Amino acid sequence: MPIDSNSNNMKKLSFIILLALALPLCACCGQKKEQKNEPDMETKVNKDFMDLAAGRYSVRHFSPKPVEQEKIDLILEAGKLAPTAVNSQPQMIYVLRSEEAIAKANQITRCIYGAPQAFMFCYDDNRVCRRGENDNYGDIDVTIVLTHMMLEAYNLGLGTCPVGAFNPDDAKKVFDLPDNIHPILLMPFGYAADDAKPSAMHTTYRSLDETVVYK
Ligand SMILES: Cc1cc2nc3c(=O)[nH]c(=O)nc-3n(C[C@H](O)[C@H](O)[C@H](O)COP(=O)(O)O)c2cc1C
Repeated sequence: MPIDSNSNNMKKLSFIILLALALPLCACCGQKKEQKNEPDMETKVNKDFMDLAAGRYSVRHFSPKPVEQEKIDLILEAGKLAPTAVNSQPQMIYVLRSEEAIAKANQITRCIYGAPQAFMFCYDDNRVCRRGENDNYGDIDVTIVLTHMMLEAYNLGLGTCPVGAFNPDDAKKVFDLPDNIHPILLMPFGYAADDAKPSAMHTTYRSLDETVVYK
């Protein structure tokens, strides 16, 4: 092969190698540019979220109108996205909506408030992340899941009320739950009755001075 053609081949090869090296760099630049277009944390204040957080209240009188399956699906999806300790996802959520299940819920608490459906939030002891020898993150995980679902329900025009006023042992018995399932909270949900309104407690807030400490 003549020397000239050899050096041409070398040039071609160098060009291809340079191109191969440059391409991923360009891709990175592209990504950076996209990220740059996103607002930074300071400007990303989501007013809609603050409206949602302020507007939600504990509904204590529900309409008998059942909630559509599509809405229940969206609420459950919102719960699925919640963070849990080491992503253990120990939640077990029972959707109580048969007449029989709602009658049982009314048997163990006075706080179903006429809702035709309620969630019962439990955690599964076989999946929960342990916290030292005698504790775990189950109730914390489940409460965060509940919070996601409570806000999504409100986002969909529904009311909710988190309910702790029941004996977990009664719930285990009445719903025939296996030993590894621990009930934590109930949450009746549905369309608010026409006369439903926030209780005085809804707007009784401690000041941030009382509840926040900067160190
Ligand atoms: C862990 C927990 C348990 C609760 N248990 C009950 C309950 O058993 N019955 C009830 O009517 N409300 C219950 N609530 C609702 C609170 O009373 C209510 O969130 C609080 O008074 C603030 O009012 P708001 O939800 O309208 O903003 C509970 C709330 C939480 C977070």
